[in-house]
Amino acid sequence: MTRQMPSVEALRRTAQGGLLRVLQALGVRRSDAALEADAQRFWTEPHQGRGSHWQSTARFAEGGLWARIGLRHLGMLRRAARTLDAEPAMARIVEWGCGGGANAVQLAPLAREFVGVDVSPDSLEECARQVAARCETPFRPVLVDVRDPEAALRHVTEPCDVFLCVYVFELIPSPAYGERILRIAHEMLAPGGLALVQIKYDTGSWRTGSRRLSYRFSPGNTTTYPIHAFWELARRCGFEPRYVELLPEDELDERYAYFVMVKLGVG
Ligand SMILES: C[S@@+](CC[C@H](N)C(=O)[O-])C[C@H]1O[C@@H](n2cnc3c(N)ncnc32)[C@H](O)[C@@H]1O
Repeated sequence: MTRQMPSVEALRRTAQGGLLRVLQALGVRRSDAALEADAQRFWTEPHQGRGSHWQSTARFAEGGLWARIGLRHLGMLRRAARTLDAEPAMARIVEWGCGGGANAVQLAPLAREFVGVDVSPDSLEECARQVAARCETPFRPVLVDVRDPEAALRHVTEPCDVFLCVYVFELIPSPAYGERILRIAHEMLAPGGLALVQIKYDTGSWRTGSRRLSYRFSPGNTTTYPIHAFWELARRCGFEPRYVELLPEDELDERYAYFVMVKLGVG
């Protein structure tokens, strides 16, 4: 049996990964501010959909994965409305980190307005194209800088019914940054509004903790939370978390937890 030699690039990445692990075990970390700047650089360079779930990229081009992801999240929102015994109000939907529109194309047809927030101008354009090709619902693109997510509140001043954020929290610069997004979500939502937020969870093993050393090397492992810690964080931000759906593995990665949360009514 012949064995294929790993490519030079694969060897380089393995060596780099090993070195980063050692440095991390030694407690070497980048600061929150440095990681925010790294993330801003990573997402704003022209990327042709890299890491952003564009339908045209190799991973999504075949097998219906792109449609499946959006339909899965639509199904979760419908299930949440049934479970909470509420009419699914979807007049204004905000998606934080809308990427190439996999969720937007499924949800926008049900809404009167779809707001896509992202840090990548390329992805906002792609998302707008996809929504326009699917339905007449107006799409409002909101571009924010990673370092100033609160700026979105100046653009979205009307109350929203649904706040969706999936495949994004693992990419944010730090667990503390997640609190900023949850507070923004809380402010954007109408009383009684529904948030569906996905995180990558930390099981307590070293491998699954937040990696705070090289954003570019492994963006999708930058931020993780123990499930109970995120539940408490959501409560601190004014949400009432109702339940969590776990997806220990999906087509893209592993350890996903979806929090279904409500902004409490008056007061
Ligand atoms: C993996 S894609 C997910 C796209 C979409 N949510 C989906 O499920 O297909 C991640 C998206 O989050 C965006 N993003 C990364 N960091 C962000 C941040 N701090 N705030 C908002 N969006 C961010 C990226 O530009 C990218 O479009």
